[in-house]
Amino acid sequence: MQDQIKNINTLEELQALYTATFGKNGTMTARLKEMKNLDNDARAALNMENQNLRELFKTRQTEIENAVLMAGLQKQKLDVSLNAAPENRGTLHPMTQSLIEISEILESFGYTPYTGPEIEDDWHNFTALNTPDYHPARDMQDTFFLGNGNVMRTQTSAIQIRTMEKTGAPVKMFGIGTTYRKEMDATHAPMFGQIEGLYINKNITMSDLIGDIRAFLKRFFEMDDIQLRIRPSYFPFTDPSIEVDLKWKNGRWLEIMGAGMVHPNVLRNCGINPDEYQGFAFGFGWDRLAMLKYDLPDLRDFRGNDIRWLKSAGF
Ligand code: PHE
Repeated sequence: MQDQIKNINTLEELQALYTATFGKNGTMTARLKEMKNLDNDARAALNMENQNLRELFKTRQTEIENAVLMAGLQKQKLDVSLNAAPENRGTLHPMTQSLIEISEILESFGYTPYTGPEIEDDWHNFTALNTPDYHPARDMQDTFFLGNGNVMRTQTSAIQIRTMEKTGAPVKMFGIGTTYRKEMDATHAPMFGQIEGLYINKNITMSDLIGDIRAFLKRFFEMDDIQLRIRPSYFPFTDPSIEVDLKWKNGRWLEIMGAGMVHPNVLRNCGINPDEYQGFAFGFGWDRLAMLKYDLPDLRDFRGNDIRWLKSAGF
């Protein structure tokens, strides 16, 4: 009987043998009915045999069911070698990716983001920034004049003015925007991005400024240690003014940003008392920082919207 069970390969045959054994007219059923005529030892032996047989049936049933299942799965196996249609997934533009990273860092330092108009009036782009119309520093920026007194914004410093006019002091903000100048080569495009930080409060010093710049650059470029060179410079809206160079991986010094202590006239123009408050501002080219971070050779490509270039640059 035991060998018979083990040799069965279908559930139907197994069921048939089960019925023939344990069914109403089954062989085991008949023997169990006669059990009262047996002595104790024989009863115990029969009970044992009955139990073992039932277990054997159960085990064989499970084995056959598993075998049937496996055979079914084998038949259903997917052919994954077929080429699927290529999927085109978009990615974030490098300007967007860098903006997200820059914003995260500045916001973690307590700066709040602001924007402003790209067509700017003379007051916000120049005059309030301590650059009245006779000022020679207007020539520093190759401005696109719109003929109605407005200009294409040449610097995000205009956003500082708009923010200070609104919030007064203290204020800790950064402006994000597109800026325009008549210039064009591998590191200059007529349309480019600037990001600019401003912090006005009591007792703010140059070392607060340099500390924030250092911490920002370290995090943005993911460098363990950075070397900065602080050079005296000139901007009408800061005094003293500096330019910051960063020692790059190849050992060369790169000019990274302009900065300085906000000129008292600028604070006054925004209704802030310079005897009570002072602060700093720093501004940098957003495209240029992204270009360095992602190691891309030509800044003009950033605004070209050429998918092939973006793909080849790894975006
Ligand atoms: N606005 C300056 C420029 O465009 C950069 C700057 C910003 C300098 C803030 C000092 C402080 O060149």
